[in-house]
Amino acid sequence: MNRLNKCYESLRKKTDFTPKIGIVLGSGLGGYGDKLNAETSVLYSELEDFPVSTAPGHMGRFIFAHVDGVPTVVMQGRVHYYEGYSMQEVVMPIRLMKLMGIEILFLTNASGGIQDGMKAGDFMLLEDQISCFAPSPLIGENLDGLGVRFPDMSKIYDEELRKLIAETAAKDGIDLKRGVYAQLTGPQFESPAEIRMLKTMGADAVGMSTACEAIAARHAGVRVCGVSCISNLAAGLGGLLSSEDVNETADRVGGTFETLVKDSIKAFAAAGEI
Ligand code: HPA
Repeated sequence: MNRLNKCYESLRKKTDFTPKIGIVLGSGLGGYGDKLNAETSVLYSELEDFPVSTAPGHMGRFIFAHVDGVPTVVMQGRVHYYEGYSMQEVVMPIRLMKLMGIEILFLTNASGGIQDGMKAGDFMLLEDQISCFAPSPLIGENLDGLGVRFPDMSKIYDEELRKLIAETAAKDGIDLKRGVYAQLTGPQFESPAEIRMLKTMGADAVGMSTACEAIAARHAGVRVCGVSCISNLAAGLGGLLSSEDVNETADRVGGTFETLVKDSIKAFAAAGEI
């Protein structure tokens, strides 16, 4: 039996909850998980052979709850490539959520803002991504049971879901930027020259996660949407960078972020998307 199936079996010994939507909470945004009316939760460390996050600001558990009636699994904490895991390990939680039953994946993260006019505390709706500075999570033997060898990535971020998130933000009076997210490996923050390069290439925000997860989800036929919290201006565009500042900003705007996620899920349900 492969590792993914082993993890799945070990999860199913803990809960038979069948989520329709999966949410990944990024740096500093994990507080949302604590406010959910959790039906049950499972620590990553309780799952056989599951990669466990070591990043600061990242807890490690799946929380199962109904969000506005929608059965939801929330990942409080993710694993990152810079922690030393392989890309296949990094996306294992995404694949596990697919096996649990999710049809939609809502990705969140903290990122450095590159787009002109951005400021710390803004939110950006992910419209597309640049993932080619990190290895693909699909390298290696293809998991035919999940998806095809050469999956299309023309429309990673679901148009209908994006529209609903944008409408929700407008209704809630939340200013929502839009743009392209670039994933670099980290763990060091970028140099100003790298940020100039990324800007030239069309990136609006930069971070160390998310794009690989979106690829794994699309490979497995899961619809994907995502919102980034601009926790700081990218290197060379503001002050010096620190993970404390990243978490501080994400904490500060956490409440607004929670509103946006919760109301977006409500909008997905009202529109019959879920
Ligand atoms: N760069 C990379 N990752 C990040 C940043 C950044 O500026 N801010 C939050 N995560």
